[in-house]
Amino acid sequence: MENAAENRKRIFSGIQPTGNLTLGNYIGALRNFGILQSEYDCLYSIVDMHAITVRQDPAALRKACLRTMAIFLASGLDPEKNIIYFQSQVPQHAELGWILNCFTYMGELSRMTQFKDKSAKHADNINAGLFTYPVLMAADILLYMTDLVPIGADQKQHLELARDIALRFNAIYGDVFTVPEGYFPKVGARIMSLQEPTRKMSKSDPEECYIAILDEPDVIRRKFRRAVTDCEACVAFDPENRPGIANLMSIMNALTGKSMETITDEYAGKGYGAFKDAVADCVIAVLEPIQQEYKRISGDKAYLEQVMVSGRERAAQIAYRTMLKVRKKVGLAALKL
Ligand code: AMP
Ligand code: TRP
Repeated sequence: MENAAENRKRIFSGIQPTGNLTLGNYIGALRNFGILQSEYDCLYSIVDMHAITVRQDPAALRKACLRTMAIFLASGLDPEKNIIYFQSQVPQHAELGWILNCFTYMGELSRMTQFKDKSAKHADNINAGLFTYPVLMAADILLYMTDLVPIGADQKQHLELARDIALRFNAIYGDVFTVPEGYFPKVGARIMSLQEPTRKMSKSDPEECYIAILDEPDVIRRKFRRAVTDCEACVAFDPENRPGIANLMSIMNALTGKSMETITDEYAGKGYGAFKDAVADCVIAVLEPIQQEYKRISGDKAYLEQVMVSGRERAAQIAYRTMLKVRKKVGLAALKL
C-alpha cells in the first residue's frame, strides 16, 4: 500500500485517545474512515503525545490508547488497508515537530482558539506543549505528504496553520511538503449534545450529554428518553427553533438514510416518546455489532499487538523517507539506518 501513493491520494487523521468515543465521533469520523479506505491511502494515528499536553494518569492513558485502537478496528477499519498506529511510536513526529517549531511564529500560536480555551480550562498547567500543540499536529500531517485531512470544524484553524507552515518551508527549500486540504463529511458533521442541543456532542461533556460507542442498550435508551426536546410534541425538522428534535432526526437520518420527510411522516401524531425509542433502536442496531466485535478484539491482545507493530513499521517507513529529505534541506547531518 505504501507504494500506491503515486495514484491514490493520501489521507491522514489523528484522534486523541482521551475520553469515551461518542456516537458523534462514529457518525462524523469513524464511519467515514471505513468508507474512505477503499479509495484513499489512509493513516489514522492515535495521538498519545497530544494527549499529554494535559495531565494524564499513565495506566489509564495506556489503556485508553488500546481501547481507541480496538474501537477503530471494531468500527470496520481494516488494518491491512489502513495504517493504524500510535503517534509516540514513530519518533519522527517529535523530530519534525521540533524542526517545524523553528518555522512557526509565537504570534501565530497565540491566536489559536483551542490554546486559549484549553489554557482557560487548565489554568494551573499552561505548558509549552499546549502552546506548540498545533505544530506537532502540523508535523503529523506533513510527515506523510498528506493530501486530505478529515477533521471537524474545530480543527480548521490548526489545519490552516499546517498549510502556512508547509508553504513557508517550501518557499525557502523548494517543494518539500505536500500542502494539505481539509476534508469535511457531508452528512452527520455535527451531532449535537443530548442535553444542550445547540452544542456539539463531545466526549468531554457530562455522561448524559453523549452516547458512547460502548454504551449498553439500556443506557442508550435511557439517555435518549431524557434527551432535551421541546413542547411541540410533533416530529418536524427545524434546527433553528427546535434543535433537540432536529438532532434526533439527524441521527436517524445518518444511520438509516431515511429522509427528514419520511421520518416526519412516519412519526406524525405518535408523540416524542415513541420517536425517541425508535431513534434509540436505530442507534442500538448500529452499535451492538460494533460492541460485540470490540469485545472480541479487545480480548485478543496478540492481535492488537500485531496491528500496533505493523502500523508503526509501515508509518515509520514513510516518515523516515520524509525526514531524510527534511534533514538534508535544513542542513542537519544525514541519519541513515
Ligand atoms: P474529537 O472527539 O473532538 O477529538 O474529534 C474526533 C473526530 O470526530 C473529528 O474528526 C471530529 O470532527 C469528529 N467529531 C467529534 N464530535 C463530533 C460530533 N458531535 N459530530 C460529528 N463529528 C464529530
Ligand atoms: N488536534 C486534533 C483534535 O484535537 C487531533 C489531531 C492531532 C489531528 N493531530 C492531527 C487531527 C492531525 C488531524 C490531523 O481533534
